[in-house]
Amino acid sequence: MTWLGLEGARALVLGAGGLGAACARGMAESGARPLVVDVDAEKLSLLQKETAGVEVLCGDLSSAAGSEQAASKGGLPGRREEMTTLVPAGRLGVPQDVVGAVLFLLPAHAAFLTGQVLHIDGGRTLV
Ligand SMILES: NC(=O)c1ccc[n+]([C@@H]2O[C@H](COP(=O)([O-])OP(=O)(O)OC[C@H]3O[C@@H](n4cnc5c(N)ncnc54)[C@H](O)[C@@H]3O)[C@@H](O)[C@H]2O)c1
Repeated sequence: MTWLGLEGARALVLGAGGLGAACARGMAESGARPLVVDVDAEKLSLLQKETAGVEVLCGDLSSAAGSEQAASKGGLPGRREEMTTLVPAGRLGVPQDVVGAVLFLLPAHAAFLTGQVLHIDGGRTLV
């Protein structure tokens, strides 16, 4: 048994970038079966070539279809619905939600606003 104790475990890794690839490598080396999801097919292909035991899925995690497919293939079917019930706004966030906050902060009329933490989470952290 490895020190992580992950032998045979299924892991869903979101993103094949710096952190995702490192996590997937560590998990595979510890005997887990990571499924790495990313929109970038080239990145996934490279990771799969370099690391034995890593499974990949090319998909957009910001879309309902992409995240449901990832959860399902990663052994977590229904996870999207489960997560949605935790958000008072009744839906998961999308990239446009973050864009809205960035546009709010950009103009000169926000120039005197400092040191705030914006929770862009549909109220998730309030409950
Ligand atoms: N690297 C760090 O030290 C660090 C520290 C703290 C937090 N973070 C955060 O952790 C996250 C990952 O960091 P990273 O360094 O691995 O970033 P990265 O940019 O190397 O990797 C992110 C990956 O996500 C993929 N991606 C983007 N949108 C996607 C989508 N809609 N569906 C599927 N895949 C998508 C990209 O193709 C990319 O491969 C980032 O949000 C980063 O801000 C990173």
